Amino acid sequence: MNQPRETTARIKIAVQKSGRLTEHTMELLSRCGLIYSRGRDQLICYGENMPIDVLLVRDDDIPDLVQEDVCDLGVVGQNIIAEARLGLGDAIAVFAEVTTLDYGHCRLSFGVPSQMQYDGPASLAGTRIATSYPRIVADYLARAGIEAEVVEFSGAVEIAPSLGRADAICDLVSSGATMRAHDLVEA
Ligand code: PRP
Ligand code: ZN
Repeated sequence: MNQPRETTARIKIAVQKSGRLTEHTMELLSRCGLIYSRGRDQLICYGENMPIDVLLVRDDDIPDLVQEDVCDLGVVGQNIIAEARLGLGDAIAVFAEVTTLDYGHCRLSFGVPSQMQYDGPASLAGTRIATSYPRIVADYLARAGIEAEVVEFSGAVEIAPSLGRADAICDLVSSGATMRAHDLVEA
């Protein structure tokens, strides 16, 4: 009798390719017992002892990869999930948060130039705010009844005020070193 063919699908996990979550996530997978080898392009890690492959991608692509069923699971910050949910519009999210991991802690904060008079979020009215999270910021401003212009930056948001492209920023803060280095005060 013929043996049934191996039909087990391989599980694909999307992981940020370089950033605050990468090292901890790969360590976590190793601690779970996954032994993997890296593909020549360095973008896929093939599981050798489990039917699991890890795709190393930009973190902002992870919700779409899961939503579109390219990957089964993603490890990503709540900032990215919140921005992606707001971008779905009327579409229904087919992804769900299954667990919270205890690493990569950070917060999303406004940052203003140290010389700017800031007396709370109302001071942002009429400003241009640079961010990689335009939907989260626009949603916050609308809820707070603050009219300001949101300027989308895909990275290096903290240099926007010194380039004259924005008056303030909204970005992730962990140690606060990045904002301080750019003479910005976390609001
Ligand atoms: C975030 C953020 C700042 C930095 C802040 O970037 O954009 O650049 O971390 O951290 P700090 O307060 O400890 O200085 P991240 O490395 O998450 O990647 P990103 O630039 O892709 O957002
Ligand atoms: Zn950054």
